[in-house]
Amino acid sequence: MKTARGHKVGFFDSGVGGLSVLRAFQALCPEVETEYLADSAHAPYGNRPAEEIARLSEANAEELIARGCDVVVVACNTATAAAIDLLRRKHPEIPFVGMEPAVKPAALRSKSGVVAVLATAGTFRGRLYNETKGRYAGGVKVIAAVADEFVAEAERIRGAPYAEWTEADRARIIGIVRARVEPLLDAGADVIVLGCTHFPLLIGAIEEVCAGRAEVIDPSPAVARQIRRVLA
Ligand code: DGL
Repeated sequence: MKTARGHKVGFFDSGVGGLSVLRAFQALCPEVETEYLADSAHAPYGNRPAEEIARLSEANAEELIARGCDVVVVACNTATAAAIDLLRRKHPEIPFVGMEPAVKPAALRSKSGVVAVLATAGTFRGRLYNETKGRYAGGVKVIAAVADEFVAEAERIRGAPYAEWTEADRARIIGIVRARVEPLLDAGADVIVLGCTHFPLLIGAIEEVCAGRAEVIDPSPAVARQIRRVLA
């Protein structure tokens, strides 16, 4: 059933990652009905060919539309990179909201002139990331770091919030995050962009590793505000 406002917003991702966007949207617009689709059968998407991700994304979007969604959020940076243009072409009646690589705010906030983006290989191959970087990075050096192991960990804890992690989860995840992020900090990065929707699910650990050295940018609240603008 649709809400009084008459909208139902569908979110999809390869797995639990899109929950970071869903939670940010629910915090902003709790009255709007939502639907979440995790394509766990095909997760992870990160290293699949773009054509395959586009095909899977099309099936996910069509499933959400069949369930009555009139706005679809591609709550996955990798799927946005591979499929957002195709989805908009195939379903011109549906507003699609995708994930923007937050290179612009990162470049504006950096004092060291070095920022790092954590994402999947598929996102870094995409036109969107490369155009955004070309347009907004300016004189700032952008380090691209693939962090597929963060996707695996976010799936392993099923997106549970930091406060609910076991001691063993916490120790393991902080070790994994440290191994990936410390070299970026040592290379001078003072802003770390979470360019994959799975990564805000690990933000407690990422912020702990970055404490005092770098700011962490989670784009989910900005995407939530964009969904609200689309609904308005
Ligand atoms: N959550 C996804 C993203 O934002 C993809 C993770 C994966 O399936 O590799 O890129």
